[in-house]
Amino acid sequence: MKAILLAGGKGSRLRPLTIHTPKPIVPIFGRPFLHYQIDLVKKLPEIDEVILSLNYQPRRIEEIFGYGDGLGVKISYVVEPAPLGTGGAVKYAGGTLDETVVVFNGDVMTQVDLATVLRLHRERKAKATIVLTPVENPTAYGLVETDPDGNVRRFLEKPKADQITCNTINAGIYILEPDTFDRIPKDTAWSIERSYFPSLVERGETFVAFVYQGYWIDIGTPEKYVQVHRDIMDHRFSAPPFEGSPQNFAMVSAEARIEDGATVEGPCFIDEGTIVKAGAHIAPYSALGRQCHIEEEARIDGSILWANTRVGRDALVRQSIIGRHCHIGRNSILDGGIILGDKSVVTDYSKL
Ligand code: GDD
Ligand code: MG
Repeated sequence: MKAILLAGGKGSRLRPLTIHTPKPIVPIFGRPFLHYQIDLVKKLPEIDEVILSLNYQPRRIEEIFGYGDGLGVKISYVVEPAPLGTGGAVKYAGGTLDETVVVFNGDVMTQVDLATVLRLHRERKAKATIVLTPVENPTAYGLVETDPDGNVRRFLEKPKADQITCNTINAGIYILEPDTFDRIPKDTAWSIERSYFPSLVERGETFVAFVYQGYWIDIGTPEKYVQVHRDIMDHRFSAPPFEGSPQNFAMVSAEARIEDGATVEGPCFIDEGTIVKAGAHIAPYSALGRQCHIEEEARIDGSILWANTRVGRDALVRQSIIGRHCHIGRNSILDGGIILGDKSVVTDYSKL
């Protein structure tokens, strides 16, 4: 059985972080995001191949995952010549399949038990089974109404506030029967949410919902990207590298250097090669990538720094996300919600 991970979007809501790093491989504690999804999909023993459906910067992604050597599952790639949308991408990647397929949005993190979902799909002899999750505000998602027997009755992508009739949304995880792909036009941009799912409802096909009450997040906005780090550090979501660690753990790589007189407060993460100089302070919910330099008396608080970034002495970086190879000048203040793309330079004494 194959799993298709839809990982071809541009990640526009995460710009500027995604200008040089496509969303599927943005680092979560230095680990490319798709690793977390591959971990989950692999738990389903039937899966013998993960197909990454790509469009934006595919080479970068292929370099990381290769053929899946060492990952415990075969990885293959399908690269669209132009973005085909979520439906077009499923057709392009899975159009020749003749067995049940698992499809994932490439930006969701969850611990749903796929074996249970697959069992339900088979028991109900469904054409499609969709995982739903309850959220407070469905407007950013696909709203899914169900009947008391767990059948999907309506699918409405990105509903307006006055169209909200329930709190269950599409979690971006589907089990599909490829004999339904005939309605997806070939080589045309087409939305699985706006066209394919509504067509299943219209045609009265067996379209089943599985409501998952556990952890689920779409990492596609800066707020959610920060949130997933916090959730892993707080064990709201159990995942590497904090799996099994004590509460409020300061996870400092053995290859990082924390100088005498520097303070590090957990929960936080400091990757290999990073140096924290004397008098510097790493406050909770910070994550520092590889080879960062935090100079004397600098303070990093609730922020995510990608690799190779330097923070000058007496600078403050609070509640912000800083890309790779950035230089934050001494005494500068980055206070709240700042997002810097790779190679940004902040002049000494700047206030952002
Ligand atoms: N291959 C390919 N080609 N992948 C694509 C394309 C494309 O043209 N367009 C989007 N994708 C991938 C994205 O990379 C992402 O992993 C996934 O499809 C979903 O696209 P998003 O752009 O992240 O959609 P969304 O978050 O606004 O909404 C979707 O996800 C929600 C759950 O997070 C919808 O499926 C909603 O219904 C759902 O609730
Ligand atoms: Mg998304």
